[in-house]
Amino acid sequence: TIQPVVLCGGSGTRLWPLSRKSFPKQFVPLIGGQSLLALTLARVAPLADGRVTLVAAEEHRFMLREALHGQGLDGTIVLEPCARNTAAAMALAALGTDDPAQLLLFCPADHHIPDGSAFERMVRGAAATANDGAIVTFGVQPSFPSTAYGYLEMGTARPGGGHTVGRFLEKPDAGRAQELLLAGNVLWNAGIFLCRVDVLLAALERHAPDILASCREAMAGARPDEEFLRPDGAALETCRSESIDYAVMERHDNLAVFPFTGQWSDVGSWNAVAQLTPADGDGNRVVGNGVVVQGKNTFVQASDRCVVALGTEDLLVIDTPDALLVAGVNAAEQVKTVVAELEKRG
Ligand code: GDD
Ligand code: MG
Repeated sequence: TIQPVVLCGGSGTRLWPLSRKSFPKQFVPLIGGQSLLALTLARVAPLADGRVTLVAAEEHRFMLREALHGQGLDGTIVLEPCARNTAAAMALAALGTDDPAQLLLFCPADHHIPDGSAFERMVRGAAATANDGAIVTFGVQPSFPSTAYGYLEMGTARPGGGHTVGRFLEKPDAGRAQELLLAGNVLWNAGIFLCRVDVLLAALERHAPDILASCREAMAGARPDEEFLRPDGAALETCRSESIDYAVMERHDNLAVFPFTGQWSDVGSWNAVAQLTPADGDGNRVVGNGVVVQGKNTFVQASDRCVVALGTEDLLVIDTPDALLVAGVNAAEQVKTVVAELEKRG
């Protein structure tokens, strides 16, 4: 069996003002009235025997439980008293699993993967390689030199399926990303990992023993409360905050990559959200009560009031009842700095 673990503790600040601290993007009904978390749960449900593990922030516990039960699923919801990034979140889930040979499928909660059955086949097809001791990654054909993703150098075919990984490079700068694309044979890391519990714990022990030790202590003091499980806060506080990509994947030697089958989008920025809506002949896209007149490549996401963009080009306009964002398409990745700036101003 494959136990899905959905990582759901990110703050999603690049989708401000729709995504807020108290209501981050994975809970926002973004696609056909459904949240990315609900869609993720529906996607992993066929693998799950009805049980999914969620790792997320304490303050979102009610939305998390609602999302889980909303899909007719049960499982454990690990509640982090403080966010310590994905290395810790994955360690907590692995430490909370009794069977060391159990396969865990780690999934971000905020991806758009429309073809659920292709996804299920792809994951099942990688199980043997993961059982064999590799950490399996899934690689997406890159379309531009993005600096927001990890890059996987695809090596030779592995006997049991998939490919070896020459190098894993997390979020290279623009120049490096360009070089990687030119060199060819690189894939974007989809951010989905399949591996055995004992394999992940051994990799953490080797590459990030301090993170593992803090998480071990946090789980030793964990308090169960119905489906919630609360790791010890004081222990988790001491944990280094690093993503699994930097902490483990860039250093680990037994990585495998399977090509991602079907469409994949990290709904990470407003440009990515815009792509979910079909464009008119001039590249304009509109959600809700918006209009673009004589514009080009303009995205308008309106809520209740009417929002009109006239004669605009390469622009993002996101309107919510209490905040409006107007941004150039090239600045989409920097929206998170706006949130930091606003926080500074109080
Ligand atoms: N529980 C928990 N706790 N979840 C977290 C935490 C945390 O502290 N931090 C992040 N997450 C969740 C996010 O909510 C998201 O679902 C997932 O973990 C990945 O985190 P991101 O912050 O979105 O990572 P990223 O997009 O910058 O990079 C990762 O994904 C890319 C593909 O989308 C990396 O794996 C890249 O290599 C990859 O290309
Ligand atoms: Mg992401």
